[in-house]
Amino acid sequence: MKSSSFLVASILVAILAGSWAKYEPTWESLDARPLPQWYDEAKIGIFIHFGVYAVPAYTSEWFWCFWQCPDRKLQYVDDWMKAHYAPGFTYQDFAKDFTLEFFDATEWVNLFENSGAKYAVGPKRDIVGEFSDAMKKSSLHLGLYHSLFEWFNPLYLADKNNNFTTTDYPDTKGTAELYELVEAYEPELIWSDGDSGPVEYWKSREFLTWLYNDSPVKDNVVVNDRWGTDTHCSHGGFLNCHDRYNPGSEQTRKWENAMTLDRHSWGNRKTMKASDVLKPEELLETLAQTISNGGNILINVGPTKEGVIPPILQERLYQMGGWLKHNGEAIYSSKKWTFHNETNHVYYTASSTEDAIYAIFFQWPISNVLNLTHPVATVQTKMTMLGTDAKVSFQQNQDKLSVMLPNMAEVQSLKHAWTIKLTYIKSERHPNEIY
Ligand SMILES: *[C@@H]1O[C@H](CO)[C@@H](O)[C@H](O)[C@H]1NC(C)=O
Ligand SMILES: *[C@@H]1O[C@H](CO)[C@@H](O)[C@H](O)[C@H]1NC(C)=O
Ligand SMILES: *[C@@H]1O[C@H](CO)[C@@H](O)[C@H](O)[C@H]1NC(C)=O
Repeated sequence: MKSSSFLVASILVAILAGSWAKYEPTWESLDARPLPQWYDEAKIGIFIHFGVYAVPAYTSEWFWCFWQCPDRKLQYVDDWMKAHYAPGFTYQDFAKDFTLEFFDATEWVNLFENSGAKYAVGPKRDIVGEFSDAMKKSSLHLGLYHSLFEWFNPLYLADKNNNFTTTDYPDTKGTAELYELVEAYEPELIWSDGDSGPVEYWKSREFLTWLYNDSPVKDNVVVNDRWGTDTHCSHGGFLNCHDRYNPGSEQTRKWENAMTLDRHSWGNRKTMKASDVLKPEELLETLAQTISNGGNILINVGPTKEGVIPPILQERLYQMGGWLKHNGEAIYSSKKWTFHNETNHVYYTASSTEDAIYAIFFQWPISNVLNLTHPVATVQTKMTMLGTDAKVSFQQNQDKLSVMLPNMAEVQSLKHAWTIKLTYIKSERHPNEIY
């Protein structure tokens, strides 16, 4: 009797002390936090790189560093500055031309909603207030990008000179402002970057412990894996690993493919050519491949210094949105299937209840017969093509399932990629299992 009331009292004390199910500042504890479900279901996000580098709009968002970082500078960037700007012109002098006269946060957010994306990750400064207000009025989840370091911040450079044994920069700026950002804007996603330096220096684990235990977004917030040298691809929330990470196979942890529509830059470039931009079918195939392997995709756009998203990038987002209107059932909230692809540009996903699988294909077979080697039809199997009532029949052969597609002319408007939904399918590996 005594001991059980002691137990009850201990539990009460634990609850009152707020130590119930709390996270501790160790990777073991933080990495064990389940990822809030909204993130896996959302699948598609938009990334925005927007800063003073949009004024020179040359090379990439690394412009300042390519011009002046002692170990990264490029001669041709220096030559270009000398040819076009007065001697003594500084990077800060570009700021007065970061004019934003056509920036309309609501217009951006409407475009992102129409693209079919479910979250967007934006820059942390200047326009963040307007952007978060517009985001909060939309159906999208708000994410904020935050770079821990700054290339030329004297405090950071001094700490680095001291081999990161002093912590003036994270204590007053780098990590300190993360707490402010969370309090002020309550983002559901923090996309951390610029984390060169030990995790102890950044005090990232202490920040994440606060974020998960006590912050206003503790239940829903999702973070990535850039929290200090050596955390990439191993610690934090979902894994970004490196830029444009797309491993082509499933991973043990949730991952995200952060990629760009402009193949060569995250920031706006005046020299971007039409051929530098992913074609719609390339964007959709990257999307399908990423989702089939259990990843999310974060698609980057770089607005101009006036605050305009270049029309060719807008067009790609609308094209994706148009495709998702018909095919979104195969993407949102989907799960990985036993198999992820066929050799002929076919990608598989499964419905969240796993009673249907989806085969997304990018090459229309000349004979109108699509051969699949992984799914095995049963007597109950039915097939449809998403976005159309056109008839789809099939024949199960010894070594393959032949899907008889409608005439392409019937489904022409669904261009770039088509999705076959298959129910009551077995996978060849588990011949007795009904999916
Ligand atoms: C810098 O710090 C690291 C990690 O504490 C240590 O391994 C390294 O030896 C130090 N380097 C110098 C030059 O002190
Ligand atoms: C198809 O799946 C296999 C097995 O997971 C993988 O090795 C391959 O890279 C994938 N191909 C594509 C194009 O994703
Ligand atoms: C699909 O399989 C059928 C039946 O074996 C075969 O006749 C046809 O040539 C195959 N089509 C393709 C595009 O491989």
